[in-house]
Amino acid sequence: MSRDATIHAALHRSRRQRLLDELGDGLLLLPTANETIRNSDVHYEFRPGSDFHFLTGFPEPEALLAAWRTGKGTHRAVLFVRTRDPAREIWDGKRYGTAGAVKTFGVDEALPVGAMWGKLLELLASHRTVFHRLASDRAFDQRLIDAFGKLAMQKKRQQPAHPTVVDPMPAMAHLRLRKDSAEIESLRHATSATVAGHIAAMQFAMPGMHEFDVQASIEAAFRMCGSGRNGYSSIVASGPNACVLHYHENDRRMKKGDLLLVDAGAEVFGVTGDVTRTFPVDGTFTDAQRAVYQVVLKAQLAGIRAARPGAAWDAPHRIVLRELTKGLVQLKVLKGNVAALLKKAAFKPFYMHGTSHWLGRDVHDVGAYQDAAGKPMRLQPGMVLTIEPGLYFDPRDRRVPKAFRGIGIRIEDDVLITARGNEVLTAAAPKTIADIEATMRARES
Ligand code: GLY
Ligand code: MN
Ligand code: MN
Repeated sequence: MSRDATIHAALHRSRRQRLLDELGDGLLLLPTANETIRNSDVHYEFRPGSDFHFLTGFPEPEALLAAWRTGKGTHRAVLFVRTRDPAREIWDGKRYGTAGAVKTFGVDEALPVGAMWGKLLELLASHRTVFHRLASDRAFDQRLIDAFGKLAMQKKRQQPAHPTVVDPMPAMAHLRLRKDSAEIESLRHATSATVAGHIAAMQFAMPGMHEFDVQASIEAAFRMCGSGRNGYSSIVASGPNACVLHYHENDRRMKKGDLLLVDAGAEVFGVTGDVTRTFPVDGTFTDAQRAVYQVVLKAQLAGIRAARPGAAWDAPHRIVLRELTKGLVQLKVLKGNVAALLKKAAFKPFYMHGTSHWLGRDVHDVGAYQDAAGKPMRLQPGMVLTIEPGLYFDPRDRRVPKAFRGIGIRIEDDVLITARGNEVLTAAAPKTIADIEATMRARES
């Protein structure tokens, strides 16, 4: 049974209505995610599809939402779900069943998943348009094509053989881009659990431990703050591993003098935090680490200041590039005029990723980055993005002063755009050198 405490039937109904109003008349078909075998008879942990969960709150596998407008401001939602099965429930846990799905999730009707294709044939026959994203679930697509084949047999020659298939995802992404108040409340919970995990890591890490020991401390704090799972695999990268952007082995033994880069986020009610902090394993930054850290921090703070309503979504990136380039000159990694260095992207070997992405149900959340005219999207209240500059000096890079080689630093926060500017949802995670060192000293007392 779901641990999800935000089963708000009215909220899900209103989200469905907003989506259907944006799509227009037609039949929305939305399967949840598939269960995937990990090995033998072991499955990967099941997580409902982000869009499906956003519109239903329903947590079980094998489910499908069918919904269509029935008039102005109204719609009908049918959920296909697994039926109750006392024998299976002894092994796999309780199921809502059809009655539970209607009662708890407030859909108009719930039917057994086994009856789905018979009912869908009926629904498809009465709609000219089907809103469905092809190629995301090939088995489902094949069944849909088979249903279209059956429909074609029943149609007169001059009629279209099957409904037109329209991708609902651009409209869905548009809806998810500006977070509603329930989504923001969930993000507050997810980001505060995420902050607790990062503080726990700072207070737990010691030379001689393995990276996975620290990972355990972070994820234990996430769980104890009400997060059932991570939003993505935790990156716990010590020493030179910090230069591997999506490092995930997390199995190196950490040494005195190492920096530890931790990029980890807690998921709560389907949305996730996404925070990176970088700190010295032994609690004190070396001079070289300090110098690089200050450059990244200054760039990150400038990026956050640029994240304001009305600004282009990539305004933080542009200011971050300028600050990092200035810093690389100060550090004597680059030589020359900042404007000229920026023009030829001289920062690229040391800063090779973007500064921001949308954040929400997916860590790299849905939402366009350009408007219809091809211009960068403008930030609006309710949008949430990360600001995450870094500098990565490969241990073997002879262009870099020796003292900096092997240093990898990223600083990442989650920023909610507000009417007046922004709110850093993850501001409570220590970030200045003084705050990090003080937090780490506190573990000794
Ligand atoms: N945690 C992945 C990212 O920061 O984009
Ligand atoms: Mn990120
Ligand atoms: Mn991250």
